[in-house]
Amino acid sequence: MQEIKVQLTDNKKEKPTDEQLPFGRYFTDHMFVMDYSQEKGWYDARIIPYQPIVLDPAAIVFHYGQTIFEGLKAYVTTNQDVLLFRPEENMKRMNRSNHRLCIPELDENLALEALKKLICIDRDWIPTQEGTSLYIRPFVFATEPYLGVAPSTTYQFVIILSPVGAYYKEGMNPVKIAVESEYVRAVKGGTGDAKTAGNYASALKAQEVAEKEGYSQVLWLDGKEHKYIEEVGSMNVFFKIDGEIITPAINGSILQGITRKSVIELLKYWEIPVIERKISMEEVYQAYKEGKLEEAFGTGTAAVISPIGELFWNDYKITIHNGATGELSKKLYDTLTGIQTGKEEDPLNWVM
Ligand code: COI
Repeated sequence: MQEIKVQLTDNKKEKPTDEQLPFGRYFTDHMFVMDYSQEKGWYDARIIPYQPIVLDPAAIVFHYGQTIFEGLKAYVTTNQDVLLFRPEENMKRMNRSNHRLCIPELDENLALEALKKLICIDRDWIPTQEGTSLYIRPFVFATEPYLGVAPSTTYQFVIILSPVGAYYKEGMNPVKIAVESEYVRAVKGGTGDAKTAGNYASALKAQEVAEKEGYSQVLWLDGKEHKYIEEVGSMNVFFKIDGEIITPAINGSILQGITRKSVIELLKYWEIPVIERKISMEEVYQAYKEGKLEEAFGTGTAAVISPIGELFWNDYKITIHNGATGELSKKLYDTLTGIQTGKEEDPLNWVM
């Protein structure tokens, strides 16, 4: 494995206080950078002081969006150990996204080593207050100056770190969601299952419209029939109907969330019935009318678990769990964050 050179900053920044820590506004003292060229492959792995990236204005990433990212979190335990939650899963997904975007594969072990070394250097930045963590953002982008539409021949891989609080201002309080019937997030055969910037850029318009109408996020339906549920905001989604937990099955357009996977595994471990299958908005509405829609929640690295208190669909207002946080959402949130922070047993060996 190639050596990771380290250049430490002599100009440390002031750290934010843990209270009221926002999401993604503060960045630590250092960053990891590595370059790629066709001649050298991935080379020059280095940790350097946090600084701007200088790119040619013709760099392919600006014009055609050839870029991918990941998101994961680090926590510090009361014994001062640093814990990472299933980071190998993020590394695997990063290479799946790379593959979809024609970006050269990264050495997953080197990327993980880089991430650990960077966190070790900036470990004083890991916040400790309840509900906070150090958000890790690895990303790769095309750097070749070229206006033709073709995969770049040069890239940069960067990791930055951000001490964060809750992603949604609501925290664990339920969010109000508008079901999106006009715009779609992704279609089968598109890039919906890759973590690439374009998916998030194309989602902004629907989110803007929903926010103007008083909703926090949108619920995405499938791109073909606008019937089946795909995701919620930038999260995967789960419903509890008549005692059974249902989440849309992976179909090529849904992002394979690591929190989604963990929730499914945890429910199976608890012997709670959970099924991955197609689920339509009509089915959710019928369940609501019959009094069988017990809970709904989103899952993602940033928010962990985000309960849904209300869905607005075709002029129907669907109130879930009286607009309050459901017991299962709460239990999942407490267990996952408990495991992540080392406060709870880790029965499925997720933290390292
Ligand atoms: C998540 O971590 O849940 C994400 O999808 C990243 C988000 C900040 C866009």
